[in-house]
Amino acid sequence: MAIEIRPTGAALGAAVAGVDLTAPSDETLARIRGALRDHLVLRFRGTDLDDASYVAFGRTFGEIEPPDEHTRTASMTDAEFPEMSVISNIVEGGVARGESGEGELRWHTDHGFMERPAGFTMLLAREVPAKGGDTSFLNMYRAYEALPDDLRARVEGLSVKHQASHGSTGQRRPGYLDLESDDPRDLPGAIHPIVRTHPETGRKALFLGRRFGSYIPPLALEESEALLDALWDHATRDEFAWTQRWQVGDLIIWDNRCTMHRRDGFAGHGRRRMHRLMTRGERPV
Ligand code: OGA
Ligand code: MN
Repeated sequence: MAIEIRPTGAALGAAVAGVDLTAPSDETLARIRGALRDHLVLRFRGTDLDDASYVAFGRTFGEIEPPDEHTRTASMTDAEFPEMSVISNIVEGGVARGESGEGELRWHTDHGFMERPAGFTMLLAREVPAKGGDTSFLNMYRAYEALPDDLRARVEGLSVKHQASHGSTGQRRPGYLDLESDDPRDLPGAIHPIVRTHPETGRKALFLGRRFGSYIPPLALEESEALLDALWDHATRDEFAWTQRWQVGDLIIWDNRCTMHRRDGFAGHGRRRMHRLMTRGERPV
């Protein structure tokens, strides 16, 4: 069966068909990697992978890194496959089967607050609600390329601190409960260039992480806030986006080095369960 790669027609994303992900050849994996460089987000529909084959497939993209210990909650970790996280709203017998954070509702990249942020993230849909819970993606190459000249000149050479202690909605993460300040200048976290060069494509992309608690040193706080607001307003425009509407068996892979993502809310009783894998990326330059 020939591999078929169909672009979404939006700013990013492509659907891939005609591949057996349980035993992909090196040639198939190379095609997938190439498609990911071109389209940034790929969707495989109707996959039939058990968790063991899924993890094996994920490992072909790099070293799998479970969520950082400061940000992980016990319910996110799968007992059988500790590399895999369970992103889910399901509670059974009073016990949460995974975690589905409110923080995912805001645009972000995964693990931006680490010295080596995530490279790829994969979500495999095990259960999806009838309505809602879509996931949207932004093309951060396009966002960079479309920056107005004045904004591009202002970010030249600047870095942003991606704070580690709070999630996107300002909630304190599990490993930082005793931290007192929520002044962005004081929060711990990794500092990365605002414009990063993708290590495989050589293209420049905006790299913003999360809005909450970000800070651009050494600017005055008000100046940093104003510049971040201008960048976020620009980068999150619809013209840079594509939205995935989930079906059970969908597998999505995205490249955190040149995208941001967010999920939509959904009605409380709908069950949603995603199995997630994340690879460790490189230090942004
Ligand atoms: C994630 C994430 C969004 C979703 O797993 O990192 O942001 O749609 N998930 O579940
Ligand atoms: Mn995420």
